Amino acid sequence: MRITITGAAGMLGRDLAAVLSSSPQQHQLHLIDIQECDITGRGQVRACLEAARPQLVIHAAAYTNVDGAESDAESALRVNAEGARNVALAAAEIGARLIYISTDYVFDGCRDRPYVEDDRPNPLNVYGRSKWLGECAAGEHPDSLVVRTAWLYGRHGRHFPGAILEQARQGGPLRVVNDQTGCPTWTRDLAQGLAGLLGGGRGTLHLAGGGSCTWYGFALAVLEEVGKREPLPPVAVEPMSTAELGRAAPRPRYSVLESNRLAELGLAPLPHWRDALGRFFSE
Ligand SMILES: NC(=O)c1ccc[n+]([C@@H]2O[C@H](COP(=O)([O-])OP(=O)(O)OC[C@H]3O[C@@H](n4cnc5c(N)ncnc54)[C@H](OP(=O)(O)O)[C@@H]3O)[C@@H](O)[C@H]2O)c1
Repeated sequence: MRITITGAAGMLGRDLAAVLSSSPQQHQLHLIDIQECDITGRGQVRACLEAARPQLVIHAAAYTNVDGAESDAESALRVNAEGARNVALAAAEIGARLIYISTDYVFDGCRDRPYVEDDRPNPLNVYGRSKWLGECAAGEHPDSLVVRTAWLYGRHGRHFPGAILEQARQGGPLRVVNDQTGCPTWTRDLAQGLAGLLGGGRGTLHLAGGGSCTWYGFALAVLEEVGKREPLPPVAVEPMSTAELGRAAPRPRYSVLESNRLAELGLAPLPHWRDALGRFFSE
């Protein structure tokens, strides 16, 4: 299959390209990032997709600085809303199917039970709003699938396990937020899940690591996993509140994603986040 991946130089994009290029189905990959095609330019996106003529576009490019978006809403909206619209329109024009990667931050987190695909988005921050608008743009494409995922980490980017490890190696102490709960997701597991969706599927799908934890629980698990493989200095890890951390963007208190649609699409759930973390550090 001819597949275009936007955001191909990003954390998810790189794992996605690696997983799809090692598939026995021998896909023809067209990998683009901002250097090759700035998605905020409608004409540029159209020309790029018209030249490559993919059968499927996986749109993973995004403005992903959640706190930065609060003071630069214009950029976040230009990339995540307008950019997604440009990609969706161009994909529709050439008859390519679209998979749009979205986020748990479209939800407000006021629930105490996991969010399923039909739950109503109500984003708390600018990034979440911009991604929700992107979802709406993708939804106008007649053959599109919105895949919501969460709390990504991977080999090719800055991520939470890496930040925790860096602080621990310096001897800490660490203070980590314990009042946000979500689903840590290894980009390689997500990429493998996405590889199972190439054949079809429309609407919205939740695809994130199994189980859930707080950032504090995630940090403890990172230290436990790394501690099995290298000696770390003894380090104090204290729980703290979101309010104490004082980040610019409000975050959902509880944004666990669950899926009612995986079985219908013939897809197995992604592995449990704890299992994924062990594999991430052992490989
Ligand atoms: N990271 C998470 O925890 C998380 C959670 C849920 C959902 N998601 C979603 O998952 C997807 C992948 O996330 P990620 O963490 O892999 O993001 P990432 O590492 O930031 O990758 C996104 C890529 O998009 C590129 N990009 C930015 N603006 C662009 C533009 N105008 N035109 C073309 N490309 C542009 C970025 O380039 P620059 O680096 O040069 O800006 C970057 O290479 C995104 O849609 C994100 O919203 C992420």
